[in-house]
Amino acid sequence: MTRPSVLVARAVFPEVVQRLREHFEVDDNPSDTIFTKSELMARLAGKQGAFTTGSERIDDEVLAACPQLKVVANMAVGYNNFDIAACTARGVLATNTPDVLTETTADFGFALMMATARRMAESEHYLRRGEWTRWAYDMFTGSDVHGATLGILGMGRIGQAIARRGALGFGMKVIYHNRSRLTAEQEQPLAARYVDKATLLREADHLVLVLPYSPQSHHAIGAAELALMKPTATLTNVARGGIVDDAALAVALRERRIAAAGLDVFEGEPAVHPGLLEVPNVVLTPHIASATVATRRRMADLAADNLIAALNGGTPPTPINPQVRAASGGPG
Ligand code: DGY
Repeated sequence: MTRPSVLVARAVFPEVVQRLREHFEVDDNPSDTIFTKSELMARLAGKQGAFTTGSERIDDEVLAACPQLKVVANMAVGYNNFDIAACTARGVLATNTPDVLTETTADFGFALMMATARRMAESEHYLRRGEWTRWAYDMFTGSDVHGATLGILGMGRIGQAIARRGALGFGMKVIYHNRSRLTAEQEQPLAARYVDKATLLREADHLVLVLPYSPQSHHAIGAAELALMKPTATLTNVARGGIVDDAALAVALRERRIAAAGLDVFEGEPAVHPGLLEVPNVVLTPHIASATVATRRRMADLAADNLIAALNGGTPPTPINPQVRAASGGPG
């Protein structure tokens, strides 16, 4: 019996690729080339499975060109690189990697918010430039995190994990806005208050974005929203590029309409809006919120678990569109 073929679209832990080889014919990409769309379609042709990351867009054109494809397993919790409606319509199971990165991403989101509030990048650059010659009472004065109001837009697993750090570790008041309100049992230990979006923007001292990207959340933070924020407030984005209008943010930072921003994700990344590179009051990191060795390994293992289960007739642990399996009786 011929074994299923899978594409591992980006370089990933060799041990995980080896595990996949125990089950499949594997076409991997150890040189870590980022495929163009036509290269991706050519490499995927005739294969039943794909191990992807956020850099591979799986849309209807790709699916149409690869009719043998049964499962696409994303090594990421976010899956805005997948057209889920198209996957479902074509009977392709899509999976992601939730939960395994929640605490790691929350650690990073909190750290980025603190670095932003306390001007860590800006002051480090000053020191490296050799400009530090004496102490001054107002040198790099920032804003407190402890006791401040933490605003969270998008109160899913990662948002709640950041709220826990703020409420329980730093005595912060937590306000949030989300598509749906948490239960009283979830709100109560954090004393979290559900507010409308305008109130969130007006009241937060430190606003953290943790919502998924979708056409509905495109530019959820633009010039109008930034204008509602306090001039002393900070904005941290560990969600997705495109949720913030980066051009509008660069202007708001330049004109000090808000105090500072911490950004791990960008519109059109890895390109960064030039206006953001010109302003000092922003901490910029290259989409690394989930990047610890242990968590990246857990994400890769979970993506592999999904592929193996889906193509061997098992139950994938974290499907995005489980109705595909239910409807087809299994893609294997
Ligand atoms: C995710 O898992 O969605 C992270 O952004 C890593 O890509």
